[in-house]
Amino acid sequence: QHCFSKSEDGFLYCEGLKVQDFLESVEKRPFYLYSKPQITRNFEAYQDALVGLQSIIGYAIKANNNLKILEHLRQLGCGAVLVSGNELRLALRAGFDPTSCIFNGNGKLLEDLVLAAQEGVFINVDSEFDLDNIVSAARIAGKKANVLLRINPDVDPQVHPYVATGNKNSKFGIRNEKLQWFLDAVKAHPGELKLVGAHCHLGSTITKVDIFRDAAVLMVNYIDQIRAQGFEIEYLNIGGGLGIDYHHTGAVLPTPRDLINTVRELVLSRGLNLIIEPGRSLIANTCCLVNRVTGVKTNGTKNFIVIDGSMAELIRPSLYDAYQHIELVSPPPPDADISTFDVVGPVCESADFLGKNRELPTPAKGAGLVVHDAGAYCMSMASTYNLKMRPPEYWVEEDGSVTKIRHGETFEDHMRFDPVFVELSLGWL
Ligand code: LLP
Repeated sequence: QHCFSKSEDGFLYCEGLKVQDFLESVEKRPFYLYSKPQITRNFEAYQDALVGLQSIIGYAIKANNNLKILEHLRQLGCGAVLVSGNELRLALRAGFDPTSCIFNGNGKLLEDLVLAAQEGVFINVDSEFDLDNIVSAARIAGKKANVLLRINPDVDPQVHPYVATGNKNSKFGIRNEKLQWFLDAVKAHPGELKLVGAHCHLGSTITKVDIFRDAAVLMVNYIDQIRAQGFEIEYLNIGGGLGIDYHHTGAVLPTPRDLINTVRELVLSRGLNLIIEPGRSLIANTCCLVNRVTGVKTNGTKNFIVIDGSMAELIRPSLYDAYQHIELVSPPPPDADISTFDVVGPVCESADFLGKNRELPTPAKGAGLVVHDAGAYCMSMASTYNLKMRPPEYWVEEDGSVTKIRHGETFEDHMRFDPVFVELSLGWL
C-alpha cells in the first residue's frame, strides 16, 4: 500500500486527502506533503526484516531532519546516524537514545566529538587525524569512546559518482591496507578508546543487493582479523544506501527484507549485532513537493511548464541529473494536448529543472503539479538561492487530518540575520 495514489477520476490523493482540495486551502507557495502512516510502514518493513537478528536501525537524519519526523521515528524504535554536531544536537533534542546513535563523517570537529563522547554515542573512526581527535575528545569528556572503524571495502556500488562512497578513491573511511595501523593505535589508547565494531557505507541509490553481500563478506573477514587480535567486536555496520523506485515503472527493486536476508547468515555466523543506516529507503517515498503551474511556454523546439517550485526547494535533478516522477494533481481539461515538456522553476539558471522531456497534458495556470519521492535529500538540501524561501511542510496523520510540521521560511526570517537590517529596525542608525 502506497500513500500517494490516483483515483479513477484522475485526482491525486495522499492517504485519504485530496491534494487538490488541500492545495486550495493553504498559502500559495510550494510545500512538502508527507504521509505519516507511510513513514511508519517503511520503518516497520525494516523492523520486520530484522526479526531474529540483534540490530540497530540508525536513520540517516541528513536525508530529512524534520523534528516531528525524527520524534516519530524515535518513538517507533529507531536510532540515528549523525554527520555533524548540529545533527547530533538535533537527535538529542528529538529524544534519541544516544546508545543507538552513530556519529559519522570525515571531518568531525573536536568540540562535536567531545559532545558525542560525553553522550556515549558510537563514533566512527575515519582517518588518522580523526582517531587523534577522538582520543582527545574522550580525555576532555572523561569518558571512553565506543568506536567503530569505518573501513573502505573498495566495492563499486554502481551508482552516480557523486553518491558513491565505498570505492578506493573516496574521501571517506580508512584504506583497508591501513587496518593494522589503526588497530595498533586503538591498542595504544586503552583508556580512551573501546573498539566495538566495523563500519562501511558503499554509496546511495543502490539497486542490487549483491553489492551489500559482497561488502559484508569482506567486512566479516576484517572482523575475523580484528577479533584474532583480542578485540571484542560486537557490531557490523553495513551503512545505508538502498535505492527506491524513482521511475515509477513498477520495476521490482530489492526491499529491506531482500537487503537483510542477503547478509543475515553471515551476521548470525559471527554472532554480530547488525547496524544499518537507511535514509532514502525510509523517507523518500513518503512525500511530494507540491507546486503550482505559473504558465506554459515554448522556445525553439522546447516546451516548458514553469512552476513556482525550483532547484532551490528540490535540487536533486539539477545536481545529480536525478529522475523524480512528476504528475498533475487533477485531471486535465478534456481538450488538453499531451506534449513533451521540461518542467522548470523560476530560478535564473538553466540548471533549474525538476524534470526533462516529460509527457504531460498541457496544464492550466494555477494547476497543482507534484514532484514525487521528495522525502529524502530534498527539503534537507533546500537553499534560499534567488531568495526563494524554504517551503513549509505538512503531514497527513493516521486519522486523515493534516498538521503543519514545519513553518515556511519567510523574508523576515531571512532579514533577521542581516546586521544592517537589524540595526535599522532597532533604530541604531
Ligand atoms: N550512512 C552513511 C555513512 C551515509 O553517508 C549515508 C548517505 C547514509 C548512511 C544514508 O544513505 P541512504 O540510505 O539515504 O542512501 N544527496 C544524495 C544522497 C547522498 C547520500 C549521502 N550519504 C541524493 O540526493 O541522492
